[in-house]
Amino acid sequence: MNISIIGSGYVGLVSGACFAELGNHVICADNDIKKIAGLKKGIIPIYEPGLEELIAGNLKNKRLKFTSSIREAVKSSEIIFIAVGTPSLGNGEADLTGVENVARVIAQNMDGYRLIVEKSTVPVETCAWIKKTIATYIKKKHKFDVVSNPEFLREGSAISDFTHPDRIVVGAESQKAGQVMTQLYQPLNRPILITNIKSAELIKHASNAFLATKISFINALSRICDKVGADVKEVAQGMGLDARIGRHFLHAGIGYGGSCFPKDLDAFITIAGNLGYDFKMLKAVRDTNQEQKEFVLQKIKEALWIIKDKTIAVLGLAFKSNTDDLRNSPSIDLIKLLLQEGAKIRAYDPRAMEKAKNILNDVIFCKDPYQASQGADCLIIATEWNEFKELDFLKLKKILQRALIVDGRNIYDPKQLKKLGFTYVGIGHGRE
Ligand code: UDX
Repeated sequence: MNISIIGSGYVGLVSGACFAELGNHVICADNDIKKIAGLKKGIIPIYEPGLEELIAGNLKNKRLKFTSSIREAVKSSEIIFIAVGTPSLGNGEADLTGVENVARVIAQNMDGYRLIVEKSTVPVETCAWIKKTIATYIKKKHKFDVVSNPEFLREGSAISDFTHPDRIVVGAESQKAGQVMTQLYQPLNRPILITNIKSAELIKHASNAFLATKISFINALSRICDKVGADVKEVAQGMGLDARIGRHFLHAGIGYGGSCFPKDLDAFITIAGNLGYDFKMLKAVRDTNQEQKEFVLQKIKEALWIIKDKTIAVLGLAFKSNTDDLRNSPSIDLIKLLLQEGAKIRAYDPRAMEKAKNILNDVIFCKDPYQASQGADCLIIATEWNEFKELDFLKLKKILQRALIVDGRNIYDPKQLKKLGFTYVGIGHGRE
């Protein structure tokens, strides 16, 4: 099929490259001329495992093209995905200017039937607005359909999430639109759920809000575990084996971050409020997440007594492993709290350091975990990168000023570290 994807950010690029890999002809458009010029040469603006190779391969076999002309993209394909950013306006609401602009350009350049697929994360009823906008600006009375096809891609595993999704959700009004979408995704051989448009729009926010709720639940539970001497990992395992609960997203830590959960939760709370429902439960989820970072700070204080002038090594800056994304990273929030307390921070991250240098002042960036640990009074694990799971602890013990590890992601075995002579502070591991 011929597909255009408007918006070459995270979702647009991954979806475009994957659709091309499935054998479609894909044009990815973006009005950022510099970004498009780079992409044409195979320069990828984000780090996502496997994406560079996928784009290079499909550029070579000419199934993937990049353009800065949205007009060209609209004219060349019958199926047009909208995958532009919907950043937070600061009051909780999402900024839908980009979506509206694209809808207008589509309307003005359509020269026949078009299937417009909304993929950006948007409030319920956005598709209805897209439909109205197109109907208002369309020149000739060409037919069109608008469908909602929310994405569930996780950074770091976006390609396998695209090719092996648990489900594909399509909100469609017309049978034709539903059929075309089914045909498009059919090569993946995964369950396709066709719903009405508003249900599909809600499924995206509802899913992210529910996953955030699971994380805040287990983080709140870690507080109880700490108080009574239980182990939150064991509790999560015991709960997760119940198929009704499931084991995923029950990993306690320093709180969730990223470009989706915090923004989508804010947006969903605001949407509900605008509809006259005070979604108190989600407000508590958000508060618990904020408290979790302060709780970790408290743990560091308890271990170090005075934080001022202490040297603290922080391993991991990205909001999770396998990404260079720092948006709403709990690690960055924690570093800021520690700097406010007067700590000296030595930091290392395998991928996110260049971006971090632009947003963190007064931090010493180091070339590896050992350089970061040099003379530190405390070592904090803030992101669960695999390379941190295999550190040489005997070497670390010699380098650190004090053998104290605050494991903000519960990646180590406390008994093993204690045996090696470390003071170990985890999340929800009970009292020392
Ligand atoms: C999320 C959704 O999973 C995805 O479906 C949606 O399309 C976009 O938002 P992403 O933000 O890339 O994806 O990361 P995810 O793996 O969901 O993790 C989000 C945050 O939760 C991270 O900060 C992660 O460290 C944290 N997390 C996740 C936990 O603290 N504990 C867990 O058990 C799982």
